[in-house]
Amino acid sequence: MHRVLVVDDDKILQESVKSALEFHNFIVDTADNGKLALSAVHKEKYDLIVMDVNMPEMNGIEALVEMKKHDPSLIVLILTAFSNVQDAVAAVKEGAYNYLEKPISSDNLVALIKRALKARSLIQTMAFSAPSLSLGGGKDDQFVGESDVMQKVFSIIAKLAQVPTPVLIRGESGTGKELVAKAIHYNGPRKDDKFVTINCAAIPENLIESELFGHEKGAFTGASERKIGKFQYADGGTLFLDEIGDVSATMQVKLLRVLQERQFTPVGSNRVITFDARIIAASHKPFEDMIKEGTFREDLFYRLNVLPVYLPPLRNRTSDIPHLVSYYIDYFNNLHSLEIKGLTPEVKSILTDYGWPGNIRELRNVIEHAFIIESSDYITLGSLPAAVHSGDNEHTSGNNNSEEAMISMDAIKDSILDEKRADNSDYQFTFATIGSEGEIKLDFQEAKDQFEKSFIVQALKYNKGKINQTALKANIPKKTLLRKIEKYEINPKEFY
Ligand SMILES: Nc1ncnc2c1ncn2[C@@H]1O[C@H](COP(=O)(O)OP(=O)(O)OP(=O)(O)O)[C@@H](O)[C@H]1O
Ligand SMILES: [Mg+2]
Repeated sequence: MHRVLVVDDDKILQESVKSALEFHNFIVDTADNGKLALSAVHKEKYDLIVMDVNMPEMNGIEALVEMKKHDPSLIVLILTAFSNVQDAVAAVKEGAYNYLEKPISSDNLVALIKRALKARSLIQTMAFSAPSLSLGGGKDDQFVGESDVMQKVFSIIAKLAQVPTPVLIRGESGTGKELVAKAIHYNGPRKDDKFVTINCAAIPENLIESELFGHEKGAFTGASERKIGKFQYADGGTLFLDEIGDVSATMQVKLLRVLQERQFTPVGSNRVITFDARIIAASHKPFEDMIKEGTFREDLFYRLNVLPVYLPPLRNRTSDIPHLVSYYIDYFNNLHSLEIKGLTPEVKSILTDYGWPGNIRELRNVIEHAFIIESSDYITLGSLPAAVHSGDNEHTSGNNNSEEAMISMDAIKDSILDEKRADNSDYQFTFATIGSEGEIKLDFQEAKDQFEKSFIVQALKYNKGKINQTALKANIPKKTLLRKIEKYEINPKEFY
């Protein structure tokens, strides 16, 4: 639902606009003059402002200027008195999206608001048409970024999309480099052609040349068919050279020549093929150091780096964290048909303070992890992975650990989610008893954990690692069992 602020000193008009918008499911706040509107904008995030011009204290144009200073992406619609064209022109000059003349027809107003919101979401929602070649990404993919630095990235993307020059996207792992590459492609004139990705780090050295440029039949052992390479395949569209910092010295020379001449020769062929693919490259590697060390060619770097885009790590744009979290909560609620409402305050502050070494990919994984583990309506401390919880960044350095955790959880994920859908009641520990006090010199929580872990290991051993059977025989709700297996890092396969 969108939140709108209606600003007018005319209470009757204010109320009629408010009820018209509420009828169309907007959340509406009101303010009586520009000054009050400005302080409302500092307190609350609005999707759109509908504002009169002539008001006491601070008029609409002055308020507009201040609001735009505060948040340049804010959409402001100005209401002007009939035939007061100067006001309208001044407002648009100062960044108002559009103006409406009084008397206002609520149909026109609603139509204009919807158009304005759509225009804004077009900038933020990349028009992914989900071609079969795009890796990841779907129609619902959204680029989240309210921070100033991401707003700048969005405006750079919009400009880059319109020119055919090579782009080099740099940033730590998981910062969204591939998303930027797709955004550039799908927002430019080549959007109806292919977006072709090649991960230069994932292809063995002896195959990369043929992957990129193709080969003739019999060009090398195993080349039983003629094959076209990615450069040719991407013709007319975009070729995304991912992890370009990982290509060998030999391939760097070849790539440089191909990019300079805009033509290439397939392996084992004499044919020279001219290509017309837009080149976007990405890497998390420190090119400056590599150039100094001689492991990356300076000339190739400059050829690619014509238009650089740098994606800052998430820890340097913490204001994006709440937006990303709520985006992923909506996303996973939809995906898993759940209704998680949000985070508890302590989780909120832990997520903001955490260093996010795996950046947005890690955040996404953490939220999905919590969806699987959480049994209440809010994401609580207990459903965060230990590394995030303890603020121990080293354990999640790179994104691999959290990604592996997700993969190892895949097998159990569906069954937990099924159970969550079927049964939202809290689980109960049937075995929450511990030995006699005198023998145990540990604290209660630690002793309980030890008992739980050894009990579950015993139960799994007895049932040969079979989850359903263990749950049934040991009288543990399956959801609880799975959660404990994850918590204590037990591998049921060991007991098969
Ligand atoms: N601004 C963003 N808004 C929403 N989702 C994002 C954003 N940035 C990244 N993501 C998501 O985070 C994940 C990682 O993004 P992406 O694959 O583009 O990162 P990357 O920089 O290419 O990482 P790597 O270097 O590991 O290849 C994806 O699921 C992507 O959709
Ligand atoms: Mg990537």
